[in-house]
Amino acid sequence: MTSDVEFHGVSKVFGDFLAVDNISFSIPQGSFFSLLGPSGCGKTTTLRMTSGFEWPDRGDVLIAGQSMQNVPAYARPTNMVFQRWALFPHMTVAQNVAFGLEIDRRPRAEINKRVGEALELVGLTDFAARKPRQLSGGQMQRVALARALVKQPKVLLLDEPLGALDLKLRMQMQLELKRIQREVGTTFMYVTHDQGEALTMSDQIAVMNKGRIDQLDSPQAIYDRPATRFVASFIGNANLIPVEILESSAKEASVAIGGLKFTVPTTEKLSGKKGIVSLRFERIRVGPEAKKQNVSGKATIRDVIFSGSSITYVVTLEGSDTDLTVEAPHDGTSAPHSLGETVHIGWDGGAATVFADENGNG
Ligand SMILES: Nc1ncnc2c1ncn2[C@@H]1O[C@H](COP(=O)(O)OP(=O)(O)O)[C@@H](O)[C@H]1O
Ligand SMILES: [Mg+2]
Repeated sequence: MTSDVEFHGVSKVFGDFLAVDNISFSIPQGSFFSLLGPSGCGKTTTLRMTSGFEWPDRGDVLIAGQSMQNVPAYARPTNMVFQRWALFPHMTVAQNVAFGLEIDRRPRAEINKRVGEALELVGLTDFAARKPRQLSGGQMQRVALARALVKQPKVLLLDEPLGALDLKLRMQMQLELKRIQREVGTTFMYVTHDQGEALTMSDQIAVMNKGRIDQLDSPQAIYDRPATRFVASFIGNANLIPVEILESSAKEASVAIGGLKFTVPTTEKLSGKKGIVSLRFERIRVGPEAKKQNVSGKATIRDVIFSGSSITYVVTLEGSDTDLTVEAPHDGTSAPHSLGETVHIGWDGGAATVFADENGNG
């Protein structure tokens, strides 16, 4: 598969602060790729090194197989969409979208055709004659998107483009962005700190942590098989349980929590004695069905939180001081368990993951 963007051992230093630390990845042509991580982890810097607004101190950035070492921003086949859309207020929607093509001195007929197509793509055909102040936030962001796509970049760079929109509109725009990306087939390189956004839209996600990539995988693999403690806690809700490693190969380890021994997938041979098991809240069963799971035991209910579609329990595993959070669907078929009740809990060992406890003193 051809790659549109490649980073080879790229680092970026600001003063004595290492903002991006030796990262490597490649983005297949036509895919939706997200950089996901908390504020300050180096996402924007990575995007800016792709666009040419920032230069690596080490390593190389390639676009469409070509090194960008001597290629300035304006000569790169990329275009950027920002959170602040910065439209020209005195121009109509169509004029805003046409602007880049006018600068390039494209023929009038071609400009009209391409602007028409771009507006149709983002669903704004009927708004062509409006001024930005006559648009909602979501519509302005669509204009910004049309303005970037009309230039037919090889790679579209998007830096938290939905950050200024309210939650409902943001979710609607996520589906819309994904549809547009599929339709035009342009490679999208998308920056966000919002895990839901990244999980919804991406083909691949690079989870960044302090300037490094902790994991690069499909959304499902990131969720089901977090490679590090950071990924497990940043994405979704997981119990992070200190365990003793009884035995380990490169693929699985046997562990013990209290008196419960079970086998868990791992991505490395765990030689130390301490590990952390990551177990998603919703993967733990509670009540009679828990007994059918390949790991099960008894627990006492310590807390019950009702939240409509689900019920969250905090339970203490019998014979240990381990507290687990369990999220059970509220399907209306049975009454919630009550405080102090002893219940069965259980899970599929294969649905958990274990990694080394970096702070453990083994
Ligand atoms: N031009 C700059 N000068 C100094 N420090 C910077 C500059 N740009 C970014 N940084 C720092 O580098 C780190 C990563 O920034 P950034 O890439 O913007 O993170 P993110 O987009 O993930 O929030 C931050 O600590 C930020 O303060
Ligand atoms: Mg940023």
